[in-house]
Amino acid sequence: MKTLLHYLFLLCFIILLPAVHSQCIKDQQQSLLHLKKSLQFDRPSCSCRTPLISWNSSIDCCSWGGVTCTSNGHVVGLDLSSETISGPIPGSFANFSNLRVLDLSSNNISGPIPGFFANFSNLRVLDLSSNNISGMVPGFFAKFSKLTSLSLSGCRLNGTFPKEIFQVPTLQTIDLSGNFKLGGSLPEFPKNNGSLRSLILFGTNFSGSLPDSIGNLKMLSTIDLSYCNFYGPIDSIHWENLINLEYLKLDKNLFEGSIPPSLFSLPLLSQLNLSHNQFSGELVFSNVSSNLVTLDLSFNNLEGQISVSIFYFRGLQSLRLSSNNFNAFPFNGPQQLKYLTNIDLSNNSLLSLYNGTDSSYSSFPQIVSLNLAANKLRTIPYFLRNQSTLSSLNLSENHIQGKIPHWIWSSNQLDSLNLSCNSLVTLEPPLYNSTVKTVDLHSNQLQGQIPIFLPFAKYLDYSRNNFRSIPSNIGDFLTNTLFFSLSSNNLHGLIPASICNAPNIQILDMSNNSLFGMIPQCLTAIRDISVLNLARNNLTGTISNVEVSKDSSLEILEIGRNRLGGQVPKSLANCTKLKVLNMGNNNITDRFPCLLKSISTLRVLVLRSNNFYGGIECLNTNVTWPGLQIIDLAHNNFRGGIQGILWRTWQKMMVTEDGSQLTINGHQLRNIMDKSLSATNRGSYRFEEVSLGFEYDISITVTNKGSEMNLVKILSIFTLIDFSCNNFSGPMPKEMGEFKSLHSLNLSRNAFTGEIPSSFGNMGALECLDLSQNKLTGHIPPQLGKLSFLSFLNLSNNQLVGKIPTSTQFSTFPKDFFTGNKGLWGPPLTVDNNAGLSPPPTVNGRPPNSGHHHEVNWDLISVEIGFTFGFGVAIGSLVLCKRWSKWYYRAMYNILLKIFPQLEERIGVHRRHVHINQR
Ligand SMILES: *[C@@H]1O[C@H](CO)[C@@H](O)[C@H](O)[C@H]1NC(C)=O
Ligand SMILES: *[C@@H]1O[C@H](CO)[C@@H](O)[C@H](O)[C@H]1NC(C)=O
Ligand SMILES: *[C@@H]1O[C@H](CO)[C@@H](O)[C@H](O)[C@H]1NC(C)=O
Ligand SMILES: *[C@@H]1O[C@H](CO)[C@@H](O)[C@H](O)[C@H]1NC(C)=O
Ligand SMILES: *[C@@H]1O[C@H](CO)[C@@H](O)[C@H](O)[C@H]1NC(C)=O
Ligand SMILES: *[C@@H]1O[C@H](CO)[C@@H](O)[C@H](O)[C@H]1NC(C)=O
Ligand SMILES: *[C@@H]1O[C@H](CO)[C@@H](O)[C@H](O)[C@H]1NC(C)=O
Repeated sequence: MKTLLHYLFLLCFIILLPAVHSQCIKDQQQSLLHLKKSLQFDRPSCSCRTPLISWNSSIDCCSWGGVTCTSNGHVVGLDLSSETISGPIPGSFANFSNLRVLDLSSNNISGPIPGFFANFSNLRVLDLSSNNISGMVPGFFAKFSKLTSLSLSGCRLNGTFPKEIFQVPTLQTIDLSGNFKLGGSLPEFPKNNGSLRSLILFGTNFSGSLPDSIGNLKMLSTIDLSYCNFYGPIDSIHWENLINLEYLKLDKNLFEGSIPPSLFSLPLLSQLNLSHNQFSGELVFSNVSSNLVTLDLSFNNLEGQISVSIFYFRGLQSLRLSSNNFNAFPFNGPQQLKYLTNIDLSNNSLLSLYNGTDSSYSSFPQIVSLNLAANKLRTIPYFLRNQSTLSSLNLSENHIQGKIPHWIWSSNQLDSLNLSCNSLVTLEPPLYNSTVKTVDLHSNQLQGQIPIFLPFAKYLDYSRNNFRSIPSNIGDFLTNTLFFSLSSNNLHGLIPASICNAPNIQILDMSNNSLFGMIPQCLTAIRDISVLNLARNNLTGTISNVEVSKDSSLEILEIGRNRLGGQVPKSLANCTKLKVLNMGNNNITDRFPCLLKSISTLRVLVLRSNNFYGGIECLNTNVTWPGLQIIDLAHNNFRGGIQGILWRTWQKMMVTEDGSQLTINGHQLRNIMDKSLSATNRGSYRFEEVSLGFEYDISITVTNKGSEMNLVKILSIFTLIDFSCNNFSGPMPKEMGEFKSLHSLNLSRNAFTGEIPSSFGNMGALECLDLSQNKLTGHIPPQLGKLSFLSFLNLSNNQLVGKIPTSTQFSTFPKDFFTGNKGLWGPPLTVDNNAGLSPPPTVNGRPPNSGHHHEVNWDLISVEIGFTFGFGVAIGSLVLCKRWSKWYYRAMYNILLKIFPQLEERIGVHRRHVHINQR
């Protein structure tokens, strides 16, 4: 866009300003020097391109950099772009009311557009783009009768844009993109009066329908209204009049109705993007234009067959039709698409492609990327056999059965192959070394030995199959592998030590198999390994002597649910990057591993169900776990008090999250996009993938997956403390009340004494609180009634006395939560005499469940979450397999639902919300 603008800009110079070098008028020079003085700069002594440096009185001011004069010495052009100017636009500009061209773009200017700009009625070109200019857009621009180009993109303008400005008859270019708080609607455009060539509003809050009279703007060559809130049909517009149209982008709006066939025959149109709207019906092409290069109709409600006429778009390079409801694609059509390289047909209902051997199919164009994921295919399309330039092939989430043909590996261009989520059973031999780099075969029914023939693969996902054994020399085939997952298979046997020979491995996941024997000593010593997951196997032996090298990269160590014994390895102290440590459900006999207290990165510590014993006093001193979210010490033999622990250093549990951050609405989405735009190349239109910049930096696609963003957020803040089933004693620390973002606190089945601290009422995010089976005395503090998210509270089997506080919350809990306390009374334990016949209690509007249903599955919380979200961390940086991450979020969502049923309501609401905003 910038280049187009500059081109126009230059054009203006040539046409409007013939005499550039002329004698500068004295007072103009004074005004310029005054102006220079009044400007503020971010970097005053920047050696970047600064025409301003040349502004000194010994030279004629008409030859100063960035200054343009008329023949009689009036300054009519000022180009002060990219000068690191900051602060508001100074009043000293007011002296240049003859300006025809003013370019202040790409500075750091803030504040509003000043009122004295009203005097600049001679302006032809005004460029204030890429600044921090805020406030409203003044209506006086509509009176600038010579204005040809107005660029206000990439600022922070807000309010309603005066629509008369669009009607300035001389206006050729208007660019308001990226002002996500700037709204308004489009006016009617008079007949035979428009000189508008570029209309760029992407990433703004513009709304309303597209006026039919836009068909009067015969000069239009670029329309970009993407990421706005426009709606309604577009099929009554006379698109056929817009014979100069080259770019049409209406993506990410709420347009509906059918797609007008006339769009496809516009002679100059090269890019057409109508994705992420609500267009429906069948596609009709007539008189197809051969200039179209990219066609994106993805994420709509289109249906039916894709007509053979699609092959008459002879210039087509990229075809995106994903996430519609198409049921057939003419892969057997006449092959005239010489340039076609990318086809995305994912998320449709394609039932079968041609499956025969007819030679006409071998003439299918040689493509580079084909995405057929999430359709209903039963076989691997045969025409792929003759594709020699294919680099990326995605056939995941279909119904493909049988074997993976050997020829699929043969193309030496193949970079990425995704066959996950099908019903594939075998790999057809011969398996020769393939050069493919990313292979995803997860969630099939593949059997036998893990195949070894992909020595160049960086990403290898064999998880969720029926593989039974690992070849002992596997490590020799992992020389380039960064990610290797064998999780959830049926693997038996020892972990082959040859894996330690894999020099580059960063993520190794062998969890959920039946592997036995010891953990090879060398495994944790692999130089770059950052995630090691061996959980849920049958591993035995002692872990005391596991070696972790100095400068270890280990961030996640998961060895939970095995039969490992011994003590916590001392060398773990070398893991200064450790975030997740799960040793739960083993047979480890040790004191509390105080060596962890200096690891400040720790977020998840799970030691549950082992033989840990003794006190946890070392947590009283010098522990800095500012990011700790989950600590699970349950089912051990820990004893002693937990008073005096430096709870205050567990900051993550204390920061309250701003509730609004949990909601992702249209604006926040835009905000995020805007950031990523300015971070990369502003003005380029490709931002499908947006790094959300959370701590976990998970890259996901901002398409229809808004709900998953919420999940990421929820996961990154999920917090839990579980000390249950130990012998902890003494009073419960009142400092815990400061854990304002703690979701779950379980101190049950210990020997705690004293009263329940009333400060517990401050844990505003608490959803589960279990203090049962202790020796607590005194009253239930009424403050607990303030915990509005509390859906599980168990105080049973203590020595509590008095009336159960009358809070709406409490009366909805089942009896069992309070039984076993001799001195407690009042509803729900006993019927309150005063209340008489109160209505039966309900939980969240539903009838109360029995106590049984309220049982929280602590195992699920401690183990699954601990790892899964840690895993997300690692994968986020790789971003190799989007589908996989989609699965991951889905799985995560289900786990969370099991734990906190009420999340469904909350997430559900957001999901709908996002849905509405997005579609
Ligand atoms: C627009 O932004 C300005 C300054 O940033 C602010 O004071 C004003 O309230 C905003 N107006 C609207 C309508 O949002
Ligand atoms: C192609 O697939 C269709 C649908 O599965 C099937 O009916 C047809 O017999 C197959 N044709 C050949 C040649 O295999
Ligand atoms: C395949 O790769 C392995 C390991 O790099 C090598 O030992 C073997 O010779 C290769 N086989 C073929 C057929 O190239
Ligand atoms: C674990 O190993 C024991 C003894 O070797 C065996 O009895 C048991 O079946 C194994 N469990 C699994 C899940 O493989
Ligand atoms: C850390 O690693 C080095 C090198 O492997 C080892 O010598 C040292 O003992 C380790 N530190 C601890 C506390 O085990
Ligand atoms: C657990 O470890 C203890 C001692 O370290 C040992 O006596 C016991 O047999 C182990 N239990 C199992 C089930 O391996
Ligand atoms: C924490 O430990 C460091 C070094 O180990 C020491 O310098 C510091 O004084 C300790 N702080 C407290 C509060 O004990």
